[in-house]
Amino acid sequence: MNCSSSLKNAFLSAKKVTVLTGAGISAESGVPTFRGEGGLWRNFRAEDLATPDAFEKDPKLVWEWYDWRRQVIKPLKPNRGHEVIARFEDRFSDFTLITQNIDGLHKKAGNEKMIELHGNIWKVRCLKEGKVEDNLEAPLSLIPPYCTCGSLLRPHIVWFGESLPYDTIQQAYRASEECDIMIVVGTSAVVQPAASLPIIARQHDAYVIEINTEETPLSGIANESLIGKAGDILPEIERLL
Ligand code: OAD
Repeated sequence: MNCSSSLKNAFLSAKKVTVLTGAGISAESGVPTFRGEGGLWRNFRAEDLATPDAFEKDPKLVWEWYDWRRQVIKPLKPNRGHEVIARFEDRFSDFTLITQNIDGLHKKAGNEKMIELHGNIWKVRCLKEGKVEDNLEAPLSLIPPYCTCGSLLRPHIVWFGESLPYDTIQQAYRASEECDIMIVVGTSAVVQPAASLPIIARQHDAYVIEINTEETPLSGIANESLIGKAGDILPEIERLL
């Protein structure tokens, strides 16, 4: 990869840094992506598994799918890309990580300041009380799982047809409007509202860098589009600093 001098200069003068990640950052850890070859939405129908209607119709089926995904993710470790992003949090005093991922690998890598746009697969929510709790059991001993109040628990994940929590998206908009640099890693940039965040950053004069193994709708909008694996390119960028 050839890092341009403007990329280096943008980093050296940046005070506020925002990183937006998608499934591609976790691909090198072994987490399946959603689109493209081998992607989850190639083999499963989202409307059968990741919508409120699907859960209402068949909570057991939906939970079996999430239980399978939790078992796939549980033994996986953060990769070099996650590790660089975790070190960025220490390096830049004003740093925000926005992730669309629900796998928890950024936290495992050491990131603490994080906006999880689509929720977290290791959290469950009581359908009646709305209470959110950690649940690390994989495989689950009972499917579907129940709350102590007797009501069904659901995955604490934003499904198709649901809105993102207001505070979460407002924080993400703010981090996009205020940053000097936005690094967008491993997202197909087609799911809203996440896909609009780099555009907002550009409109507010941030230097937007995309890292992806292929071109996306964002490639023509970003200041730089770096084609390659996150686990290769992020360490190269870190070496520049
Ligand atoms: P996608 O599966 O749509 O896109 C993954 C992107 O990562 C693609 O553009 C790949 O080219 C790229 N990629 C793959 N391996 C990579 C690597 N090693 N390094 C860099 N890039 C790589 O995943 P998302 O954009 O995250 O929502 O999908 C957005 C949302 O759609 C997900 O959060 C999920 C899904 O439906 C919910 O579940 C609510």
